[in-house]
Amino acid sequence: MTSAAALPTSATARVPAKINLELIVGPRREDGYHSLATVYHAVSLFDEVTVSAADEWGVSLEGPHAQGVPADATNLALRAARRLASAAGVEEPVHVRIRKEIPVAGGMAGGSADAAAALVACDHLWGLASGRDELAEIAGELGSDVPFLLGGGTAMGSGRGEVVAPVLARGTFHWVLALSACGLSTPEVYAECDRLRGSRRVPEPTPRRDMMTALRSGDARALASALVNDLQDAAISLRPKLGDVLEAGIDFGALGGIVSGSGPTVAFVVENNEAALDLAVSLTASGTVQDVRRATGPAHGAHIVAAPRAD
Ligand code: C5P
Repeated sequence: MTSAAALPTSATARVPAKINLELIVGPRREDGYHSLATVYHAVSLFDEVTVSAADEWGVSLEGPHAQGVPADATNLALRAARRLASAAGVEEPVHVRIRKEIPVAGGMAGGSADAAAALVACDHLWGLASGRDELAEIAGELGSDVPFLLGGGTAMGSGRGEVVAPVLARGTFHWVLALSACGLSTPEVYAECDRLRGSRRVPEPTPRRDMMTALRSGDARALASALVNDLQDAAISLRPKLGDVLEAGIDFGALGGIVSGSGPTVAFVVENNEAALDLAVSLTASGTVQDVRRATGPAHGAHIVAAPRAD
């Protein structure tokens, strides 16, 4: 621990959204989760989480995607802060303020991102200097995507997604994200995937070689043709309009497109920044999508951006 006098009065962590470049869903496990082989990719759409000492534990939200996020004890970022406090023997409560730019229930791990940011911010505020492994363990208990968002970048996920290993990836990819006003529930999309599969035997998931080759080359076209998401049919089954969005993006010049995670966000990969701007304008003008964002990846995981001191 750092000496109390040197500790900041608050700490703000910035955390990216994620998309899944590859999401191969294996059989449903006994604990209800599905075994996965996934490639996570952090993109430059960021939430910010600020923690500061308070009389009692609490959470508040602001920003364009604040609506629909619980502002009570069930909030995942608040749970993350309390979980770290109890692991580290910290007894002083904090208030967690979340500025949300990442859509809620969008398949971009917005809630998990805030939990990862809360861990990093509290660790800094309390001067714990926990190792990445210690934070990753707590992160994995909070949610399958949380460990990835601590590190960001591009990484393989296995287990139920919580076991993360870096992959060799070159260059920067340009993305256009088609956001939906209304989210999809992750458990419902997994359940729909199971329903569509029926009694078919599902093999244990294994990563694909063409995705690894595409990442190593940094070639956006190769990446576009390697994109795969086993939850995509389930997301389209629950929200048929997503099929139209995917088609429109390709018609307007995207190299490839994919539903992100459990959806409903759709991510399109394009050649460069100019192509991203063109596609964003076309998608908006066509009325197919109301909210379009441009982003690049990979982006850094949760990191401190401000930590003012009293003096
Ligand atoms: O881990 P997390 O809390 O983010 O997962 C939310 C839900 O998504 C789980 O309760 C489960 O229904 C589903 N899920 C799954 N298999 C995974 C990850 C999530 O079935 N590998």
